[in-house]
Amino acid sequence: MTHPSDPRAVDPGLLGQVWANATFLRDPLGGMERIQQRYGDVVITRFPGQTFVQVADPNLAGRVLRELRDATIKDFATRVLSEVVGNGLLTNEGDSWKRQRRLAAPPFRPKALKPYTAAMVRCASRAAESFPSGDQVDVHPPLARLTLDILAQTIFGGDLEMDAARVERHLERVMAQFYRITGSWEAVLPHRLQRTIMRQLHADRDALHQVVDTLIAQRRAQGTEGPDLLSRLIEARDDEGRGMDGAQLRDEVLTLLLAGHETTALALGYALWLLAAHPEVQTRLHTEAEAVPALNDHHDLDELPFTRAVVLESMRLYPPAWLIGRELTAPTPFAGKDLGVGTQLLVPIWLLHRDARSFPDPLTFRPDRWLDGTAEAAPKGAYLPFGGGPRICIGQHFAMIEAVLSLAVLIRQLRVSPVPGFSLELLPTVTLRPRRGILLGISRR
Ligand code: HEM
Repeated sequence: MTHPSDPRAVDPGLLGQVWANATFLRDPLGGMERIQQRYGDVVITRFPGQTFVQVADPNLAGRVLRELRDATIKDFATRVLSEVVGNGLLTNEGDSWKRQRRLAAPPFRPKALKPYTAAMVRCASRAAESFPSGDQVDVHPPLARLTLDILAQTIFGGDLEMDAARVERHLERVMAQFYRITGSWEAVLPHRLQRTIMRQLHADRDALHQVVDTLIAQRRAQGTEGPDLLSRLIEARDDEGRGMDGAQLRDEVLTLLLAGHETTALALGYALWLLAAHPEVQTRLHTEAEAVPALNDHHDLDELPFTRAVVLESMRLYPPAWLIGRELTAPTPFAGKDLGVGTQLLVPIWLLHRDARSFPDPLTFRPDRWLDGTAEAAPKGAYLPFGGGPRICIGQHFAMIEAVLSLAVLIRQLRVSPVPGFSLELLPTVTLRPRRGILLGISRR
């Protein structure tokens, strides 16, 4: 996969690699930036037993996801997640992934999502009404509850009983264990010393299995005729008339909970954070939301172009999925080097989205760049909040509709303001999470 215009990969040598590894492990986001500044867009680093390539060139990054589909699988870090979500879409591979993706895709197509918009607005209105107010509110927990509520109403049909607090608790712990294994100094421990982490991960998985099994049993008992995603997945059949078996269905449902809950909550949280810091943008968004009388129909989305631009711009600056990885399954010529099987290709969404060559004045929050054509002029591969290629997020349309409607509903009722002295600290685990919450002033309009 080498094109004449591709940047050449740089191998910084032993000392450079020690520096790069230490820099990344101390501070993954800042570390990636410093590695790019020192060595360029494509950098090879080695870790005991692993070779990594940081691919921060937008054209090349996009092509890793699109063109290397047959020579890659998910990276080693994502595979850790299969300890929890088993063979669900996020971690599945090969023919089994293809079959599952085909089965699960129809309910996620934009047209099929229309029945869910009213439920999304209902959940967002409830969240806005019960949103805690005050000078210092951590907005992440109520937003996480909102997106879980939306999944419960849309995936499960709303008539099932789900212990939301239990799901949140265990998903939260999964994220924490994942960070220990892949992003902290504990990542370098031999496997046997990571056993306690694995034990904890499995305990959380078992608890989540119980919740999901109960939901599936309830759904089957109450009938699967409805438009909810779970019914559609239970009823889905491939060309030979085969559906999913019980274990596969459970893995898919747990995957949707894991992949669809926190990501969207983070997108909303960072959007509120940026709106608080930019009152003029908040006023514009409020005016736009106020002008859409009912806000309960998918047509309303067309009336919210500025809100959509705010969501896109927030995910540019704070991409909930900050890094996407792939592992080579075949020797591959790449950026002037011959890479071996097992090489981990890292697509640093964080760097791509903050690259001045793609987005002029990249650190400035400017939603208008999504309306005046500037953002569209960026190279393909410069903006990848939902990934790219065949493994692109199956929930991308769902998430965009959910985020735009929720933000419009929230800002219609709430005013957000900065908390003096509070600064946002990021914790890059599976997702880009706030380390100490997202503290904002919240008042009702
Ligand atoms: C703002 C919200 C979201 C963001 C930023 C996001 C981001 C992503 C990204 C980057 C990937 C690709 C990972 C890779 O290539 O390795 C992905 C995959 C996936 N996402 Fe999302 N996602 C979001 C919301 C959702 C929602 C709402 C759902 C479901 C309800 C969902 C379900 C999935 C699934 C099942 C996959 C795996 C797809 C496959 O490999 O076939 N996501 N997501």
